[in-house]
Amino acid sequence: MKHFYLPLEKELGNLQEKGLFRNLKIVEKKEGPYIWISGKRLLNLASNDYLGLAGRLSLKDLLPFLEEGDFGAGAARLLSGNHAYYEELETFLEELYGRPVLFFNSGYLANLAILTAFCGRHDGIFADKLVHASILDGAKLSGAKLFRFPHQDYEALEKLLFKKRATCKRALIVSESIFSMDGDKTDLKALLELKERFEALLFIDEAHAIGIRGRKGLGLAEEFGLGPEIDILLGTCGKALGSYGAFVVVSEKILKDYLINKARPFIFTTALPPIILAATKKALSLLRSLEEERKHLRTISLQMRKQLGLTENDTPIIPVIVGESKMALKLSQYLFEKGFYAPAIRPPTVPENTARLRLSLTAEHTFNLLDDLVQEIKSFLSKNS
Ligand SMILES: Cc1ncc(COP(=O)(O)O)c(C=O)c1O
Repeated sequence: MKHFYLPLEKELGNLQEKGLFRNLKIVEKKEGPYIWISGKRLLNLASNDYLGLAGRLSLKDLLPFLEEGDFGAGAARLLSGNHAYYEELETFLEELYGRPVLFFNSGYLANLAILTAFCGRHDGIFADKLVHASILDGAKLSGAKLFRFPHQDYEALEKLLFKKRATCKRALIVSESIFSMDGDKTDLKALLELKERFEALLFIDEAHAIGIRGRKGLGLAEEFGLGPEIDILLGTCGKALGSYGAFVVVSEKILKDYLINKARPFIFTTALPPIILAATKKALSLLRSLEEERKHLRTISLQMRKQLGLTENDTPIIPVIVGESKMALKLSQYLFEKGFYAPAIRPPTVPENTARLRLSLTAEHTFNLLDDLVQEIKSFLSKNS
């Protein structure tokens, strides 16, 4: 087997050399905004639990649900895994959004499902250059032609649609609403206008906006006052909802039925354990009451960006771009020693030469805690630039 392992070893060696090797850190404990790694208490800046809900969904509260039945679902949803909680959750979300909703095991699987179910080899997917890996994987798996436009450049998208729309039977425009690695917001109205003009479907991934945007916490589309004009919207439950799983909101029931019948990542996988669904339901029922947390998050996000001299924006994803992967690792290690956990994000997660720290703020962070962090970052950058 040596001939098989040797090239792998070489590849990993190359990653090491370029500062791109990844390894797992053991998280010993989490408490509020802190995380324990290697026996050290650190301020956690690497969590998407934006509202601090994960810690509020305690097992103690959920035990009654466990006592009612089995832990595992035991089968896919189309067999015997479709616990009544699914129906409750979907109905709850359908009332909130006012349109059909289908639950998936994760955002990754939901993205594979949407792209492979609605697009095939005669179709075209028009995707922002920086969309999440799961969207790109779904696009590849679908066999559709993939056209990528420069990040948030809607004029370039318009030109691309002019040139390529006629070459595809069906066209799907896809973007995130708040970008996962840069935290910038998408102009949903601009995309909507193009979708209508070029008779395309519009799919918006709201993974980083659910919970934290909109009056009811339903995402950036809610904040923009948009509804069924967006054909497909994805919400994930493992980030601001503090739970696990994902849901897809569609403009018409036929799209939901189509996903149930055609989406392989929906059909061929075991359903979620019911207790996870109970936790998600609890998180969703709290959403409306979390306006103070949303407000605090927006305020500290604005403030932190200002202190770091970055473009004004009130989303909690703050990129500190340093360029070289090794420099990002060095900054991350420096902060670790000072009591902050902010892992380096490197290619291929982000484009070449844009390695960074992706600081992700949560409602549990305070001005004082973040102020110390800003001082440390500035001190490192002034010595190392
Ligand atoms: C934009 C985006 N979409 C989808 C996903 C996948 O969601 P999940 O973690 O539920 O699989 C992520 C997760 O990182 C994401 O950032």
